[in-house]
Amino acid sequence: MPGPPQADAIVLFGGTGDLARRMLLASLYFLDADGFLPDDFRIVATARADLTRAAFLDLAHQTLSERPEGVDAAVWTRFSGRLSYVVADATKAEDLAKLKAALDGAKAPFFYLAISPSLYEKVCVALAAAGLATEAARIVLEKPIGRDLETSRQINAALGAVFDEEQIFRIDHYLGKETVQNLIALRFANALFEPLWNNLAIDHVQITVAETEGVGERWPYYDEYGALRDMLQNHMLQLLCLVAMEPPADMEPDSVRNEKVKVLRSLRRFTRVDAQERSVRGQYTPGVVGGKSVEGYEAERGQKSGTETFVALRADIDNWRWAGVPFFLRTGKRMPEKRTQVAIQFKPVPHSIFGQASAHDLSPNRLVIDLQPDEDIQLSLMNKAPGLSQGGMRLQSLPLSLSLLRTYEGAGGRRRIAYERLLLDVIHGDATLFVRRDEVEEAWRWVDGVADAWAEAGLAPKPYAAGSWGPSGAFALIERFGKAWSD
Ligand code: BG6
Repeated sequence: MPGPPQADAIVLFGGTGDLARRMLLASLYFLDADGFLPDDFRIVATARADLTRAAFLDLAHQTLSERPEGVDAAVWTRFSGRLSYVVADATKAEDLAKLKAALDGAKAPFFYLAISPSLYEKVCVALAAAGLATEAARIVLEKPIGRDLETSRQINAALGAVFDEEQIFRIDHYLGKETVQNLIALRFANALFEPLWNNLAIDHVQITVAETEGVGERWPYYDEYGALRDMLQNHMLQLLCLVAMEPPADMEPDSVRNEKVKVLRSLRRFTRVDAQERSVRGQYTPGVVGGKSVEGYEAERGQKSGTETFVALRADIDNWRWAGVPFFLRTGKRMPEKRTQVAIQFKPVPHSIFGQASAHDLSPNRLVIDLQPDEDIQLSLMNKAPGLSQGGMRLQSLPLSLSLLRTYEGAGGRRRIAYERLLLDVIHGDATLFVRRDEVEEAWRWVDGVADAWAEAGLAPKPYAAGSWGPSGAFALIERFGKAWSD
């Protein structure tokens, strides 16, 4: 089935903003450097700031030079030739009409909304009124798509009134990360795991997304969302879907997305009792992270707040494959280290033949997929400890490691920005790594259930010192089910 035509231009709304400069322009620059941009591909940045093209180029150059890779003169000459800048209020059709000249005959542009989600609806209407929402156009947007099911439906309906679903690319930047895609390769390009990938062999799954950063200046957004809506509704549920989904028929966008939606639909709804027994909310207080003293969330916020900066919970997937296998999810700001990790804990051997001396050595196999800061996949396997021992064989667990970082270094590669993959896919019209409308809405449906259960149970965030692994309740939570966090 032929996809949409190759895009020949990008219009970057919010072109002077942080996301556009640090992530999107940098990604486009690297795609250009590696020869991935079509020859006549144009980049039009637009924002309200009254800048000349020359001033915008200076800004772009400065941002790129702040990166460790530096700016290559020849690539910059080619790249800057593609760039133009248009001063416009994105919600006004008469302003957007000015984009036509800058697009210079491009027939299949994509519009990247690197702007506040509160403007999505108005920009879509203005794009349509300016005659830019053609059949060949695409629109790309980021989370948050709403704050709950109802508001996400409003945004999706507004988008749907102007663009067909095939033209809408909803970004979850975690899906652009190399190791996240590698989860798909690991599961479906190896015959080894699939027979074991179920409740017969897997004891439980842990997904951790820990950050050392605090909320800082972002509190006006964050205070309304909290960790549940900011991280769990999107990035963490996407990771959970990739771990838990059935094998798709192929890598076509809808084949993969259909399987993810089935997982989301199978998530067991949270109750008030679950809120108390299966979840923990936390909020950081002053502490020390990376040797530096840092403020608590309420000091950054400037007043008292009931928003969680940490959440840990047990999710259950009610289907044949996963019945009885807990998925423990944990995310927080101001943790001791940055770590994004999926850990698959297998069940112990059914019976030990090794006798008393080795009984304590035996530990069940664990597959640990590290996404950040280092990309690594490790499978722990039991071995005989080398040498002689009295009273029977001693055992030890050793990791079989697939260090992607070392492999890349060996190949002279650099670590790509997640947006490079995603922008390239938008150019080619491949929506496999983008989130479909029903996925967003199913994820909100479940997350709304958690938020409602918290409200019913009156569950307020528990304090935790910045630089710790969250409130003590997070440890009690997992211990209640006889497990421990894989730290
Ligand atoms: C964003 C959240 O979506 O993801 C931020 O809004 C968070 O709060 C960020 O810091 C984490 O992304 P990454 O790629 O640094 O893990």
